[in-house]
Amino acid sequence: MSRVILLDHPLIKHKITIIRDKNTGSKEFRELVKEISTLMAYEVTRDFPLENIEIETPITKMMSPVISGKKVGLVPILRAGLGMVDGMLDLIPAAKVGHIGVYRDPETLKPVEYYCKLPQDVSERDLILLDPMLATGGSASAAIEILKNSGATSIKLVCLIAAPEGIEVVQKAAPDVDIYLAAIDERLNEHAYIVPGLGDAGDRLFGTK
Ligand code: PRP
Ligand code: URA
Repeated sequence: MSRVILLDHPLIKHKITIIRDKNTGSKEFRELVKEISTLMAYEVTRDFPLENIEIETPITKMMSPVISGKKVGLVPILRAGLGMVDGMLDLIPAAKVGHIGVYRDPETLKPVEYYCKLPQDVSERDLILLDPMLATGGSASAAIEILKNSGATSIKLVCLIAAPEGIEVVQKAAPDVDIYLAAIDERLNEHAYIVPGLGDAGDRLFGTK
């Protein structure tokens, strides 16, 4: 069974409160999603392996740790996942970025795939799948399946806010994918929106609607 890692640092909690607020406009919303993503990147990379290299300080030679040749791929789920890319790149600047386009059909609530462009060497990379919202879990599960069909062997899912229903769906569909979250909310409403949530993440990021 995959792990659910709740990142409840006070800075993350504070910023999540502000993006939930319906009076927060797109500019501030975008800035905060970026900042939260950077804070989450710190924890998501915690298990990256290190190797010692020899360096010389102004005083003496020493062996000192660096991250050992990790190849990372960031994969935002369009649209709203785009808001998380730059914050992650601030801490993992060498990562390559793939894109998966999936939207949720408003009637059926089923994921509809419309775009996929991934780094060529996707099977050699540790992939970090990004989407602010994990609601029914349909979009994330579809994106994970696309990544696996493309050869991915190492995937972490990073979302800001999740409903318990979505966590369960992803855990069942992908028991090898750990899920990193900033908040776990109560439930889904009758339109499968997260309650209390923050509304439609794509619309709030890009000012549509
Ligand atoms: C939102 C969100 C997720 C999805 C979550 O995207 O960014 O991708 O809904 O819902 P689910 O867990 O029930 O699948 P949306 O479908 O609104 O597409 P958009 O980002 O293009 O607006
Ligand atoms: N997608 C969103 O953007 N928000 C929700 O609450 C559910 C799905």
